[in-house]
Amino acid sequence: MTTHLTTSPTDAAARIRRGQIVAFPTETVYGLGADAFNPEAVRRIFAAKGRPSDNPLIVHIHDLAQVDDLAATVPDAAATLLEHFVPGPLTLILPKRPTVPDVVTGGLDTVGIRMPRHPVAQVFLEACACPVAAPSANRSGRPSPTTWEAVLADLDGRISCILKGDRTPVGLESTVVDCTEVPPLVLRAGAITLEQLQAVWPSVRLSPDVHTAKRRSPGTRYRHYAPRAHICLVDHPDEAEAAPDTAYIGLDAPSDTFGLHLACDDLDDYAHELFDFFRRCDAADIATIYAQRVQERGLGVALMDRLRRAAAG
Ligand code: TXA
Ligand code: MG
Repeated sequence: MTTHLTTSPTDAAARIRRGQIVAFPTETVYGLGADAFNPEAVRRIFAAKGRPSDNPLIVHIHDLAQVDDLAATVPDAAATLLEHFVPGPLTLILPKRPTVPDVVTGGLDTVGIRMPRHPVAQVFLEACACPVAAPSANRSGRPSPTTWEAVLADLDGRISCILKGDRTPVGLESTVVDCTEVPPLVLRAGAITLEQLQAVWPSVRLSPDVHTAKRRSPGTRYRHYAPRAHICLVDHPDEAEAAPDTAYIGLDAPSDTFGLHLACDDLDDYAHELFDFFRRCDAADIATIYAQRVQERGLGVALMDRLRRAAAG
């Protein structure tokens, strides 16, 4: 299969309507989409990524009216979170309608729903005129792609099309909140912070599993976000062993010379850079990446989650 590159959302959407799989930019990372109501097309996503079939996909929408086509009920907490954070980098887990294909939800009786706020994603999703099931557009186990070039590097020849956009602004995936639980539980920390969620729904909790990686959100069971290089977490750049084949990323600037290094301005910048840095390290044959730990507040919770998972390889 030749992977077609386009900047036309309507061209990309026409392919979705023909049952093909298409990568597209969102504010978090690039997604790999298919018509959520076409099980054959959705199966192609799992094949292209090498993704375990029990790991459910998020369904992307462009209009709140589509929630009722997917979810059997919308609990009060979900309605409030929708009102405050959607469109945006938030995924709500809701009880699914029986019409949502099992291949999308990995056989679960719930469905993850997200409405991106990225303008290109919105135009594309509207042109698709169907809900679009889409995981991150990486080979399974690789860091999520923040550029179309990263999508091409992982999936060239395995997918029909890439809708080219700029580098994604956030750089980490959406926050996944299970609204079928009372109180609602954050299954995956992400771009919307716990503090932001609690400001509008105070009882929202981090799932205890967010730290131990398992159970409710099947995706969090697998090793994730990992470059080929070994990841070593440090509290300060002085703990890192500088060498031509080692790299460093963190908030504090290192005094030594690494094969590659990046001192980030703040947590937002660290999140924006992380996955792209991992991929640049692989391209430069870096053996060990030293990544500085951050405090687990705000976006720091999501960052530490990705760093720990990458280091757990
Ligand atoms: O920012 C994002 O969320 C990106 C963009 C493309 O929207 N998507 C993304 O998808 O990161 P993916 O498949 O890489 O991660 C989705 C996570 C997985 O951990 C999956 O297990 C979980 O969401 N998930 C999806 N549906 C679920 C459900 N019904 N119940 C529990 N967890 C679910
Ligand atoms: Mg993913």
